[in-house]
Amino acid sequence: GHGIAVFTSGGDSQGMNAAVRAVVRMGIYLGCKVYFIKEGYQGMVDGGENIVEANWASVSSIIHRGGTVIGSARCMDFKERAGRLSAAENLVKRGITNLVVIGGDGSLTGANLFRVEWTSLLDELIATKRITAEERDKNKALHIAGMVGSIDNDFCGTDMTIGTDSALHRIIEAIDAIVSTAYSHQRTFIMEVMGRHCGYLAVVAALASEADYVFIPEDPVKIDWKDQLCKKLLQERSAGQRLNIIIVAEGATDREGNPITAEMVKKVVVDELNQDTRITVLGHVQRGGNPSAFDRVLGCRMGAEAVMALMEATDDTEPCVVSLDGNQAVRLPLMECVNRTQAVAKAMAERKFELAVELRGRS
Ligand code: F6P
Repeated sequence: GHGIAVFTSGGDSQGMNAAVRAVVRMGIYLGCKVYFIKEGYQGMVDGGENIVEANWASVSSIIHRGGTVIGSARCMDFKERAGRLSAAENLVKRGITNLVVIGGDGSLTGANLFRVEWTSLLDELIATKRITAEERDKNKALHIAGMVGSIDNDFCGTDMTIGTDSALHRIIEAIDAIVSTAYSHQRTFIMEVMGRHCGYLAVVAALASEADYVFIPEDPVKIDWKDQLCKKLLQERSAGQRLNIIIVAEGATDREGNPITAEMVKKVVVDELNQDTRITVLGHVQRGGNPSAFDRVLGCRMGAEAVMALMEATDDTEPCVVSLDGNQAVRLPLMECVNRTQAVAKAMAERKFELAVELRGRS
């Protein structure tokens, strides 16, 4: 029957393997030929060994592994038409007309553009004798289903992106570890967490770890933030607390748009309060390690739903992104979600924070 290919693109995240596994198994279960495309769009452009047929066993024992076993990349070649032409040829030659893309908004946008261009790509491949008219007729329509894999939880339309929950687990584990040593020495720690332009990881980690202060991009601090910070830290100390934890989202800024860095915060705490202060930058630890139960199940559900969406698609079905809404796996129009996500990025860049938060919705 149908040829389905699954690939992961952009930054990796925990739970991507669960999603890949579900796509493969649901696809096989429904009688499809399922392919892995390795190394993201680069593998699609390069073809050859990068596109291999999957079987039931090839996704055994991956659900618990972090990262993505089929590799991921940020690909430049796919941004050029020549790259997309090769990618189309590689798919047509194998009878792949269904793509499951697991990635962020950039990767989903690329998939949509590819689909819009599909007919013209096939025409050009015929004109240059790279495929036959018969091959074109068999592969007329390209169907796409997306899933969002990212620790940042920065995508519009889904309550949780695949990987966010695991990253939070890793962060609070790290904060708990820091708290024990901070307690011993009555220290203040500044922890920098990821999230790009989104403060979700920082806010939720702060709540879950009873941090004393948090800096996030969506709520830039006022000019007098130093006084406010010091007041809060002193208040906690005089209430008997032996330590302070401050969380800084990597994208945090002040009202003027100047970055708030861990170093700056440390300087304030040392200069004003003379507290013994250390910085811990969590970095890519947050993106590694085993996925949580939540992300495994999320990946499974999303992957299965993506295959169902493809199997139900007719020639003019628009690409969808599989999302979590409440506790339901739902299908939403891919480009609507991407556009809204990009509108959030624009609002953040223009420092229209209320608009950004409103556009982002529940996630
Ligand atoms: O989008 C995931 C993310 O980990 C962000 O939180 C972070 O800003 C970025 O990727 C880091 O990118 P790289 O892995 O290229 O250093």
